[in-house]
Amino acid sequence: MTIVRDRSALLKDGLARIQGEVDACFDALLPMPDDTRRRLVEAMRYAAIGGGKRVRPLLLSATARLFGADRQAAVRAGCAVESIHVYSLIHDDLPCMDDDALRHGKPTLHRKFDEATAVLAGDSLHALAFEILSMPEISGAPDVRADLVATLAGASGMHGMAGGQMMDIVVGQSQYDLPAITRLQQLKTGALLAAAVEMGAILGRAHEDSRAPLRFYSRDIGLAFQIADDLLDHQGDEAKAGKALRKDDAQGKQTFVSLMGADAARAQARALIDQAVGHLDQFGAEADMLRELARFIVERDR
Ligand code: IPE
Ligand code: IPE
Ligand code: MG
Ligand code: MG
Ligand code: MG
Repeated sequence: MTIVRDRSALLKDGLARIQGEVDACFDALLPMPDDTRRRLVEAMRYAAIGGGKRVRPLLLSATARLFGADRQAAVRAGCAVESIHVYSLIHDDLPCMDDDALRHGKPTLHRKFDEATAVLAGDSLHALAFEILSMPEISGAPDVRADLVATLAGASGMHGMAGGQMMDIVVGQSQYDLPAITRLQQLKTGALLAAAVEMGAILGRAHEDSRAPLRFYSRDIGLAFQIADDLLDHQGDEAKAGKALRKDDAQGKQTFVSLMGADAARAQARALIDQAVGHLDQFGAEADMLRELARFIVERDR
């Protein structure tokens, strides 16, 4: 019992700490300009500061810590991943995509501002991510910075999140089977989560022997993460989730939940988490944050 309590406190503290650090980092990176771009920066701050769980920055910093990387650098790199994530949510909520009115318990960006501002805020957060990674504060070594940029770019574009979003839009129009849904989810959601872990390993200049099991870990939690999101959509509490739920069925989205049923999907997500944690066996207690984060990913209510 003591161990369980300690471990959940570890995660709670880890999330609270990274949430504060990421908010502070965005606050510093997004000063209000004294001209007509104010509306854009106001919108970026509205979407980027507060609200999110910051799972990706915590994955990155917990991995970086395994290899003794500098905490400040890890927080900044975490902000870069989160910048891509926040932009992806802004665009995901637009009327041309999921047409959502609520995110993080408040109006979505295009509802609060307007669609053009939402598109531009997304564009600017996308650019900000790579600007952050090219700053010398991230690492004095140009090869590390280039590696970080390449990893995040690969996970964001057609081979990652954006590619998965395209498959997700087309999914309503064609019949996907489980392998196709798995591929979709790995791109849409898994790629960015995996990039966060990989970027932590890059910052810590981890040896390939340590990176391979971390990649298996990421693959499993990435899939489990989207299954958990789809379960939330199916049976979660909107007030806790802070976004509109019961949308996937209405939009004819095929997910693990629609293909297997909620109970089997939950069992599948839990099995993936057990498998993910198993991949961390070569690490000691220093990987407990990654273990707890994996469990949180499927048991979360928001
Ligand atoms: C939601 O991601 C969108 C998916 C990729 C499933 P998160 O659940 O990480 O979103 P926030 O940032 O914590 O709200
Ligand atoms: C979005 O998936 C994943 C992204 C890449 C943004 P969803 O459309 O299911 O995410 P929510 O449910 O709106 O957060
Ligand atoms: Mg969507
Ligand atoms: Mg959506
Ligand atoms: Mg969803």
